[in-house]
Amino acid sequence: MVASVLKTQSFIIFLILFFITIISSFSRLTVAYGYSKLFGKYISPSSRGLKREKLSHLHFYLHDVLSGKNVTAIRVVDGKPSTNSSSQFIFGDVYVIDDPLTIEPDINSKTVGKAQGTYTVASQGELSLLMVTNFAFTEGKYNGSTLSVLGRNEVLSAVREIPIVGGSGVFRFARGYAQVRTQSINQARAIVEYNVFVFHYR
Ligand SMILES: *[C@@H]1O[C@H](CO)[C@@H](O)[C@H](O)[C@H]1NC(C)=O
Ligand SMILES: *[C@@H]1O[C@H](CO)[C@@H](O)[C@H](O)[C@H]1NC(C)=O
Ligand SMILES: *[C@@H]1O[C@H](CO)[C@@H](O)[C@H](O)[C@H]1NC(C)=O
Repeated sequence: MVASVLKTQSFIIFLILFFITIISSFSRLTVAYGYSKLFGKYISPSSRGLKREKLSHLHFYLHDVLSGKNVTAIRVVDGKPSTNSSSQFIFGDVYVIDDPLTIEPDINSKTVGKAQGTYTVASQGELSLLMVTNFAFTEGKYNGSTLSVLGRNEVLSAVREIPIVGGSGVFRFARGYAQVRTQSINQARAIVEYNVFVFHYR
């Protein structure tokens, strides 16, 4: 009785080992012949230099200059023919920007980067923009790094919030938000205060 139980047990163990051997040699074979050559696999975050997550707060002013000297925002799509609206910003307008980001509200203060991308007038009611923009920084440890900004900017509200959806350089794997307040605005230019809060690793 005891002997037959032992026999059955060792037979089961033998079977398990047998199948493990078969499966592992089969997978080695398929790798060798390229049948299951992987294009993706799990790696450890530290192998990419990703250690502790940090939170940065960036504070700067964006200058959107629409007319006069040194224009930084140009309209590349005109919504007017479709709407016959007489306001300055018209549903359907698309602007391309290369707006300086400065450390003080004065445009001649130190430049810390540029906002490069587009905004689209995406609302038929209140003035609301779709921002699709990169912030490219040129100062200190952020020099050469970018943040990708994508979201809704309801221009006339006191504080609005725009998501930060990614980044490069020190901002790899970034995510966060920008709190945005208009400092001053007229037909020719806007000065906009940005407080950016962003999680990143480097
Ligand atoms: C335009 O840019 C030039 C060169 O950077 C600068 O000297 C000038 O002061 C700027 N003009 C205005 C109105 O900002
Ligand atoms: C805009 O105005 C023009 C000229 O008055 C007219 O021909 C056109 O149909 C109008 N378009 C719309 C969308 O109202
Ligand atoms: C930023 O990086 C560029 C390219 O490496 C370099 O030419 C420039 O001097 C740097 N600027 C600052 C302010 O460190």
